[in-house]
Amino acid sequence: MNELNALVDSAHAAFGQAATPADLENAKALFLGKAGHITSLMKELSALSVDEKKARGAAINLAKQAIESALNARRQALADSELLAQLQAEALDVSLPGRRRGHGGLHPVSLTLERIEAIFGSMGFDVADGPEIETDWFNFTALNTPQDHPARSMHDTFYVEGGSSTAPHLLRTHTSPMQIRHAVQHVKRYRAGAQASSEGLFSGDMPEIRVIAPGRTYRVDSDATHSPMFHQCEGLWVGDNISFKDLKFVFTDFCRSFFESDDLMLRFRPSFFPFTEPSAEIDIRFQTGPLAGRWLEVAGSGQVHPNVIRNMGLEPERYIGFAFGMGPDRLTMLRYGVSDLRLFFDGDIRFLSQFE
Ligand code: PHE
Repeated sequence: MNELNALVDSAHAAFGQAATPADLENAKALFLGKAGHITSLMKELSALSVDEKKARGAAINLAKQAIESALNARRQALADSELLAQLQAEALDVSLPGRRRGHGGLHPVSLTLERIEAIFGSMGFDVADGPEIETDWFNFTALNTPQDHPARSMHDTFYVEGGSSTAPHLLRTHTSPMQIRHAVQHVKRYRAGAQASSEGLFSGDMPEIRVIAPGRTYRVDSDATHSPMFHQCEGLWVGDNISFKDLKFVFTDFCRSFFESDDLMLRFRPSFFPFTEPSAEIDIRFQTGPLAGRWLEVAGSGQVHPNVIRNMGLEPERYIGFAFGMGPDRLTMLRYGVSDLRLFFDGDIRFLSQFE
């Protein structure tokens, strides 16, 4: 009988060592399977006498029952610990802080555009918006830009499908086409019934044109300070007697408000644009801070060329004004001390979230 006890003990041990249900089924086969220990003990019974068979058979049956109950106990234990592990894995730690809903913020360039609109708004400027796909007429020709001007070349301008070979469609290279678009609308509104000159140009009374036009612009250009898509903000003030001194006053006032500092100087550096005469590049210089002492270009500007005034439908003998085109991306870089323009357009949330 000892040998049967030893068998039960070793079954206990084997089942105890089985770490998974599959291990346990393998261990079961060893003891209770067709080729297992119990089966072979049963086979040996045939050699015994009837009385011996009875006693021996009963003993083997007891051992078998003991092994089966050890098996069931182990099965239950494995199932219990599996359930426990699952419960632990899915456990909720109710003491953890909650997850907040993320909150968005405006892009730094959008913040700049909002600022520009607010400051010029306070000076009585309207805000106009126009198409990014332009015609050759509005982007160049109406702005007094000659057919052979280098800006028209494929190296600078993205041409798109549509239009014709003599009047192609393109992605606007600046916001200046809005000078023409806005002025034409403005003049149309006020000229109704009024007398036109022989050329069809309007010289009657109308409220001044005072508008800014911010938006996206495109040029074939890409490095740390140029992106193929960038922003501009056009400014236009046309009236009876609007001169260069008004441009100087308005732009200086704008820069002081924008940078919240009186500690900056402006320089109007003579330049050339086909649509203004005279023309000037506007540079600013901070007196203090990390950029102190350096002249930085922020806008092109000038007195609106008489040919452009004509293309607005206005009589240049009566109407005169100034225009400027500034770079909001550049203004954003200066305001926040960002040295690479491309950071604005990479969409990296770690960079952008600093401006919330
Ligand atoms: N459109 C010019 C540019 O893109 C800027 C400008 C605008 C210059 C208005 C003069 C007047 O560089």
